[in-house]
Amino acid sequence: MNGQMDGGFIPVATLDVLDAGGRAVVQVDGVAVALFRVGEEILAVADACPHRAGPLSEGDLVGDVVHCPLHTWPFDLRSGLCTRHPGVQVRTYAVRIQGAHILVSASGRVPTP
Ligand code: FES
Repeated sequence: MNGQMDGGFIPVATLDVLDAGGRAVVQVDGVAVALFRVGEEILAVADACPHRAGPLSEGDLVGDVVHCPLHTWPFDLRSGLCTRHPGVQVRTYAVRIQGAHILVSASGRVPTP
């Protein structure tokens, strides 16, 4: 599904793309973005750890913190901040749900610590 919608949000998938664990990887402007269902929300970050590009989509999720599968660096999915290494941050993306569609902001968002 393609096409720009209001506020820079682009439909990237439908809810059924999420696996049993509530995860999926989608493409946003050519960048792999990992989606995580956390409660009633879907949170999105770039699917490349800022350390050595580990696939965050395959990391362990504890609350809203994902632990990179390669060297376990933890990242807050809301702020993108690494909770172990100050100043390290992964790009986050704003997500909206409209009906069965998942929309992601193509411009991402600047995390607010
Ligand atoms: S690649 Fe993610 S912690 Fe090293």
